[in-house]
Amino acid sequence: MSFRTIIEPFRIKSVDALKFTRRDEREAALDAAGRNVFLLHADDVLVDLLTDSGTGAMSAAQWGALMQGDESYAGSRSFYRFRDAVQALTGFTHIIPTHQGRAAERILFHTILAPGQIVPNNNHFDTTRANIEVEGAEALDLVIPEGRIPATPHPFKGNIDLPALERLLESHRDRVPLVMVTVTNNSGGGQPVSLENLRAVRALCNRYQKPFFLDACRFAENAYFIKLREPGQANRTPREIAQEMFSLADGCTMSAKKDGLANIGGFLAMNDDAWAERARNLLILTEGFPTYGGLAGYDLEAIARGLEEVVEEPYLRYRIRSTAYLGEKLTAGGVPIIQPPGGHAIYIDARALLPHIPPLEYPGIALVNALYVEAGIRAAEIGTVMFGRHPDGTESPAAMDLVRLAIPRRVYTQSHIDYVAEAVLHVASLGRSLRGYRITASAAVLRHFTAQFERVL
Ligand SMILES: Cc1ncc(COP(=O)(O)O)c(C=O)c1O
Repeated sequence: MSFRTIIEPFRIKSVDALKFTRRDEREAALDAAGRNVFLLHADDVLVDLLTDSGTGAMSAAQWGALMQGDESYAGSRSFYRFRDAVQALTGFTHIIPTHQGRAAERILFHTILAPGQIVPNNNHFDTTRANIEVEGAEALDLVIPEGRIPATPHPFKGNIDLPALERLLESHRDRVPLVMVTVTNNSGGGQPVSLENLRAVRALCNRYQKPFFLDACRFAENAYFIKLREPGQANRTPREIAQEMFSLADGCTMSAKKDGLANIGGFLAMNDDAWAERARNLLILTEGFPTYGGLAGYDLEAIARGLEEVVEEPYLRYRIRSTAYLGEKLTAGGVPIIQPPGGHAIYIDARALLPHIPPLEYPGIALVNALYVEAGIRAAEIGTVMFGRHPDGTESPAAMDLVRLAIPRRVYTQSHIDYVAEAVLHVASLGRSLRGYRITASAAVLRHFTAQFERVL
């Protein structure tokens, strides 16, 4: 068909009512939450763009698969279905289920890291960084220079800086136990990594004899960007491209709450027998027996089916297009966002939008809180609150102060997105009347989840 409109490639069979609140009710709710939207009651949120993780809608086929769940403690049929689906996609030898992505990270890093080691990545996600630092190792971000400048467009802004990676491997070879690349690069704006870049990382890892792991949470969105943007890839299916991405690596961590199209789950996968044995032993200690890893049999079924649906082209075409649609509306209204729009989210450059608020007064939090009070929209700060505190307790501005509007998969329609665009443009027009924040209480690690704030007057 030659129509230009890209419609949602599904129809709605079951609905979940939204609650509309007044502005004064939202002010009171945010005060009660210590001005931290993570601490709100979700019923008080109208459009929830806090995360795309575990918030997607499952298909009728996935709900049907749930009924097939085999809840045997060991050797469950659902595990074998899950393992086969993951192996068919990734080709890895050892498939270790976990309850979500960070459990896979914790098991991998606790198994292999020693204090003083360095783990390079394009950009580490917050849980990845925290799980590396808790082992006394360093999480090093080596995204290409374009990936650090929000307004600069680049087709593969998530690429890792190959000369910088080579310099690291040359100068600190003994301190680097593995190389990671995150696809797509969530902390850098949901930006894709090219096949060319992944192939070059593989070649460097071969030269320096280092294992190469993907943080594969959004592998399908990355594969579709490759199909759209990388020369020579247009005629391949997203699944074929994803298979090549995995074939270049020695293993991966995965949160099935993203491109597994499931509400919970994840896995750690790898080819190395010795590492896998140690990882399974730790899994038994903290997650469960290796054929369920903290998940119910029905969760394994939902993920197995989700991994097939997520690489379907109509789904990916709609997914990438609908995110770009929001990005285009905001750009047309003069709101600075990371260009080009990412796969799962739009990232507003809060530092550029609110230049009167210094980074250490958290412009991202000012914008997030205004979006909630004005329109009932919940977004996430990805900036100085999330990344500005160092292990020694000191604080400095993060590289960027972003606000992420993450789009749950298959949940909201185009009119919800039109509402979000209108609301963001309204909040942007409030400009200098928005005030910064200070932290009144916070935890030592991952402080953004529970910190309490008050407005700077
Ligand atoms: C790139 C990336 N890695 C790892 C994780 C952690 O996954 P989970 O939330 O399932 O623990 C996330 C979650 O948002 C992510 O975006």
